[in-house]
Amino acid sequence: MQSYAATPIAPFAIQFDAAAATLSPPGPTLERRMSDLEGLFADRDAWQKAVDGDNPVVYRVQSSPVPEIDRELPQSITTIEPGTTGGELWMTKGHQHPNYQGEIYLALHGTGGLLMFDGDRVEWVTMAPGTIGYIPPGWAHRSINIGDEPYSMLAVYPGGAGHDYNWVLEHGMGNRVYKTPNGFELRPYGGLS
Ligand SMILES: [Fe+2]
Repeated sequence: MQSYAATPIAPFAIQFDAAAATLSPPGPTLERRMSDLEGLFADRDAWQKAVDGDNPVVYRVQSSPVPEIDRELPQSITTIEPGTTGGELWMTKGHQHPNYQGEIYLALHGTGGLLMFDGDRVEWVTMAPGTIGYIPPGWAHRSINIGDEPYSMLAVYPGGAGHDYNWVLEHGMGNRVYKTPNGFELRPYGGLS
C-alpha cells in the first residue's frame, strides 16, 4: 500500500454551480485577453486590430483548489465569450498534455465545440449542455464558442497532465472554425495571413 505522506490536501466538498459556472471554494482563476492569443487566429491583422482596440477578454478559467500535481484530479470551469476575429470563432488557446493523459469536458451552458487533433487526425464534438466530450491521451484539444452567448464547460483532468501550448503553435489544430450565416464551418488549418 502506497503511503501518501505528502498528501497536500484532505478530502473536502466542492460546490458546483452549473448555472453560475463556479466552483466553491474557489481556486486560481485565469483571464485570457486577445493579446494572450497571439499566433492563433489565421487573420493576424484582425487579431492585431482587436488587441490595439479594447483587447477584449476572450475566456476565463476558474479552478477548484485541487492542485495540479501528479495523482490529484483538479477541475476547472472555462467560459468563452461569443465573438469572431477575422471570421474565426473565439476559442481557447488549445494545448497538448506533454505527459499524455486523458481528460473530460462537460458542457454547462451555451453551445460550443471540442476540437481535437493528434497531429494527423482531427475530431470534432459539438457540445451542448449535458454533453461530455472525451479527450483521449495524445490528442491536443481546444474549445470553441459556436453560439451567440457565453459557452461554459467543466474540465476534469489528471493533475500531472500539464499544458503544452507551444505544441499548438508548432502543429496547429488540424482545422479552424469559422462563423457562417447558418452556424459554423470547419476549414483546413492553413497558416497565418
Ligand atoms: Fe487539457
